[in-house]
Amino acid sequence: MHFIKVTLLAMIAFFLSVKLSLAHPGFHFGWGDHHRGISFGLSPQFYQFSCPQANDIVMSVLEKAIAKDMRIAASLLRLHFHDCFVQGCDASILLEDSARIVSEKNSGPNKNSVRGFEVIDKIKSKLEEACPQTVSCADILALAARGSTVLSGGPNWELPLGRRDSKTASLSDSNKNIPPPNATIENLVTFFKRQGLDEVDLVALSGAHTIGVARCVTFKQRLYNQKGNNQPDENLEKSFYFDLKTMCPKSGGDNFISPLDFGSPRMFDNTYFKLILRGKGLLNSDEVLLMGNVKETRELVKKYAQDESLFFEQFAMSMIKMGNLRPLTGFNGEVRKNCRRVN
Ligand code: HEM
Repeated sequence: MHFIKVTLLAMIAFFLSVKLSLAHPGFHFGWGDHHRGISFGLSPQFYQFSCPQANDIVMSVLEKAIAKDMRIAASLLRLHFHDCFVQGCDASILLEDSARIVSEKNSGPNKNSVRGFEVIDKIKSKLEEACPQTVSCADILALAARGSTVLSGGPNWELPLGRRDSKTASLSDSNKNIPPPNATIENLVTFFKRQGLDEVDLVALSGAHTIGVARCVTFKQRLYNQKGNNQPDENLEKSFYFDLKTMCPKSGGDNFISPLDFGSPRMFDNTYFKLILRGKGLLNSDEVLLMGNVKETRELVKKYAQDESLFFEQFAMSMIKMGNLRPLTGFNGEVRKNCRRVN
């Protein structure tokens, strides 16, 4: 009798879970140590049935966008980071000002700085044609970040999917949670710890600065007044310092740009770490990974400078970790039709 009861219960649970998995791919129903109760997790197969061509669509839009503007790869990689550090990876960064929304686009770290929104719109409109209201804007950001890395010569990874989009944004969290370029190593570690990321993630993810550029205003202090004594940062290598001064004058020129990795600005490689070892990291936050007094980050910079595949492996793992920050899943959030507005 007991056996029949258990078998019956198991059958009901099985049918329920198949039904729910079809309605909500990525849904797990389980019992046992790892899946106690019901959980909606991210999974690489999330769109396997509902939109199998999602990644191909993202990649084809990216290829065209990067052919037109090489920098866009860097901008899209950064967009995912600035999304995930504010309320988790929920596409909150894409929302425009409206009656209910105060856009994150106007925060200190984002204003006149983050870019790539038109490419996200383009991807979204192609996805809406192919699979209406299925692929979230938060997943598009994650797919675009991975695709941009791959198309720049960097590592590939299996990307967990199934994030849903927020109905809110937080300008104040955007101001509070995104680390500033003049941060000390202690600050950087604290900003990352607050998100559940450690020193290894900090150094590996900073390696994203192997592509893209920064505006003069973000590193000017290092050239003219690093410690409030009108002197440059003593860790800057001399010829690099003189080059930077010609591109970034003491007054004005705030929006002039310099590559974060001038050795190979378009190539995703480990040159960024090699440059830091030679006093040629552009931002203070880059340089302190080596020169700050945290032994672990210092050693990691040296390791990644020596061993590109180690950097690639860790970058991929840390991107997955960052991409898993507080996602909305299951019945939370929504799949926006237009990434700039809630439905
Ligand atoms: C560790 C703390 C970090 C700080 C302080 C920082 C700061 C900055 C700053 C100030 C810029 C230049 C922005 C401008 O001038 O408008 C920049 C650019 C960039 N950041 Fe970071 N960043 C950090 C971590 C990251 C992470 C974790 C990623 C991605 C995983 C990332 C990806 C990028 C990329 C790709 C660019 C170039 C964007 C472009 O050319 O449009 N950064 N970052």
